[in-house]
Amino acid sequence: MTSIKRIGVLTSGGDAPGMNAAIRAAVRAGLAKDWEVFAIEGGFHGCINDRIRPMTARDVGGIIQHGGTILGSARCPEFKTEEGRIKAVRNFNKHGLDALVVIGGNGSQTGSNALREMGFKVVGVASTIDNDLYGSDITIGVDTALNVALNCIDMLKVTASSHERAFLVEVMGRDYGYLALMTAIAGGAEAVCIPEVDFTPEQLAEQISAAYKRGKNHALVVVAEGAKFNAMQLVNYFKEHEKRLGFELRATILGHLQRGGTPGAFDRTLATRLAAAAVEGLAKGEHGVLVGQIKSEIVKTPLEEVVSKKKELDLSLFELANIMAQ
Ligand code: F6P
Repeated sequence: MTSIKRIGVLTSGGDAPGMNAAIRAAVRAGLAKDWEVFAIEGGFHGCINDRIRPMTARDVGGIIQHGGTILGSARCPEFKTEEGRIKAVRNFNKHGLDALVVIGGNGSQTGSNALREMGFKVVGVASTIDNDLYGSDITIGVDTALNVALNCIDMLKVTASSHERAFLVEVMGRDYGYLALMTAIAGGAEAVCIPEVDFTPEQLAEQISAAYKRGKNHALVVVAEGAKFNAMQLVNYFKEHEKRLGFELRATILGHLQRGGTPGAFDRTLATRLAAAAVEGLAKGEHGVLVGQIKSEIVKTPLEEVVSKKKELDLSLFELANIMAQ
């Protein structure tokens, strides 16, 4: 049995649709165990600055359908210092917290792992729209972010077809091409540029020309923000060579729009299952792990492994995207 009586919950890093569902699940699963549950506001900043308050089941009512995070989130350079982390642990002790549930992606789980190394009990919940976190096939927020990107692409395609234009859409994802790749496959793009595959602007121009030659009346290119050339660089290249190429390339950078969507059923249920499992794990004495989903099962992976291993992108999806672009 566990000695846990009081836990803290926080969201950290870039917000992701479904984080509220995860907060709700962690709070209610904790209360169901007769534990006290404390919210920490503003991610690791809130740990350092003592923004810690008790939560009731009602405090998390009516939030499951909202994007963002009611607790607020932040990137916190101070938490990377030992001094900052010591301040945080002092505050945890002040409030009598026995363990922490950290809802977030790579940077956040690096913070979780640092707390683990200091001997504090912590469980991570896999949440980032980038889907680049080792230890989970899919993370909270990805599905909704993809749907936001698709809505935009579907609309852009309408006007692209009317004007026989080539459009480029830049999506987020940091250094990982998953979001771009899946957006391209689901959105029926003519080309996709991801960090994992080298390319030149001229090769992209050839791909677009070839699409027009095959009889297409538009071309849609999805570019990952971490690709070798970003949207602005590509647009500048195409502007310079517009006369020779015979077409222009217009860019739309989706940016933070992708993080602000209303969480869909998939993200709400994934978040609920993962966060409740994090609490269940703590009750069984499991900590120092990330709770994620692998092959549809809830899996706990040691944080040490999560922060030291790189999630590989399945490049057969890149081939699939190109085949489908024909
Ligand atoms: O990690 C999520 C993410 O949205 C990335 O896709 C993006 O590169 C980054 O966060 C942007 O971070 P910020 O909102 O702090 O600029």
